Amino acid sequence: MQQKHLTLTTHQAPSTTYHVIMAALRIPPSPPLVSWLGGHLNRFRTNRLDFFAEAARTYGDMVKLRLGHRRVYLASHPDLIEEVLVTQNHNFIKHFALRLNPPVLGKGLLTSEGDFWLRQRRLVQPAFNRGRITRYGPAMVAAAEQVIAAWRPGERRDIMVEMMRLTLVIAAKTLFDAEVGGGAQDVVEALNVLQEEFLRSFNRLVPTPMWIPTPANLRQRRAIRRLDEILYGFIRSRREQNVDKGDLLSLLLHARDEDDGSRMTDRQVRDEAMTLFLAGHETTALALSWTWHLLAQHPLVEEKLVAEWAAILGGRTPTVDDWPKLRFTEQVILESMRLYPPAYVIGREALADCTIGGYHVPRKTTVLMSQWAVQRDPRFFEEAEAFRPERWTEAFQKSLPKFAYFPFGGGPRLCVGNLFAMMEMALVLPTIGQRFRFALEPGRPVTPLATFTLRPKPGIPGLIVRRDPASGAPPGERRGVSPP
Ligand code: HEM
Repeated sequence: MQQKHLTLTTHQAPSTTYHVIMAALRIPPSPPLVSWLGGHLNRFRTNRLDFFAEAARTYGDMVKLRLGHRRVYLASHPDLIEEVLVTQNHNFIKHFALRLNPPVLGKGLLTSEGDFWLRQRRLVQPAFNRGRITRYGPAMVAAAEQVIAAWRPGERRDIMVEMMRLTLVIAAKTLFDAEVGGGAQDVVEALNVLQEEFLRSFNRLVPTPMWIPTPANLRQRRAIRRLDEILYGFIRSRREQNVDKGDLLSLLLHARDEDDGSRMTDRQVRDEAMTLFLAGHETTALALSWTWHLLAQHPLVEEKLVAEWAAILGGRTPTVDDWPKLRFTEQVILESMRLYPPAYVIGREALADCTIGGYHVPRKTTVLMSQWAVQRDPRFFEEAEAFRPERWTEAFQKSLPKFAYFPFGGGPRLCVGNLFAMMEMALVLPTIGQRFRFALEPGRPVTPLATFTLRPKPGIPGLIVRRDPASGAPPGERRGVSPP
């Protein structure tokens, strides 16, 4: 089942003359164009998840696409992905989509390149080391308790909305030592405007330049102004107070370059804070939301999870010391992010002509790598469409090709917040799950919608059911009557 070596042929369709000729020319095969002008853009816009998966299954590990005027390759084999993200990472920069809206993220970690990125990464990385992030554990648990304090058994709630609120409270507290309500709420509203506009420009054939005063651009500019007011406000008052509050903002303000001892300017701190806020809050909320959704559909997995919590925590709230012991909880999170990766595709643009997996990649080609397609590939995951957390044994993880599973990306640009997110999820799930469970609303199907991230559509509407922490069972079920 496991395959470590690269195959450049398709893995379902047999090799055709077309494939053979294209391979000899070192050009990846391509699905038929949908239109002359847009190329494959229409398929990409309407259902990019199926499009990625079908293109990979039908045309192979490297597929050539055209999205409007952009030449795009889709790489769907772990070895090819490793070449792009690790071995040949110096030949690539982040792809065009991340440059669509420079005023939002500025020169933060997600979007910057070269020496500037490296210096910033060195400054920010220590804030995310294991020793440092464990300090945020209590804030994460407190935030989960704060959110569920408002829940009543029998109530209808949308779990995605709840998880967004929760990770927002956590981001505001850990990043700015701020409570949600004032500034942080405005940040979210402004970010929502920016995300909508970002998606629109991502889907358009030719994005409208920011300097043209279209209604959409004016909305974006207003949102950016509001974000800047808030973030610069946080930075100014923190510089004036000159105290280390132990949050990420303090770390950014005090971080010093090891080589020349320099610190970040206000503009850099603003860009990094905005990036961390944007990159960390929604992705984690989505991973948690999809996990609740899967648990609601798989009662046996949920039962096993609740048994782990009962054995290790016995009804008390978790602490960071419990984190390594919550093994099955981690397996559930890994499996949930395999099936529903919040970042479902990442991309790079070639700086110069290069060769990936034997294929010629011309300069300026965008190489896309889809977690959605690769992490559901039956070559690497038995019963790939099934939710089976038990598969994540240590032996399985060791045997898995490195880039068959990459929810946090990889190589030098690996997600800086990956441990932070894994800890946040491992602490939040039992804090909530020992007290409540979610029952899905029948007849309200939830489907994955690929926006900038992988969102559940139309959210995840459900019913809150109380769980008895001691037994793990919902009280109604223990007494043999239906839960509310
Ligand atoms: C489940 C949650 C998360 C997922 C799935 C996720 C996913 C990713 C992925 C795939 C990348 C690589 C992008 C690329 O290579 O183009 C990335 C980068 C990044 N993530 Fe995350 N992320 C998560 C949580 C977080 C958190 C909590 C933070 C911060 C608090 C964060 C901050 C960042 C930053 C700053 C980068 C850019 C790193 C660099 O290029 O040096 N992420 N993330």
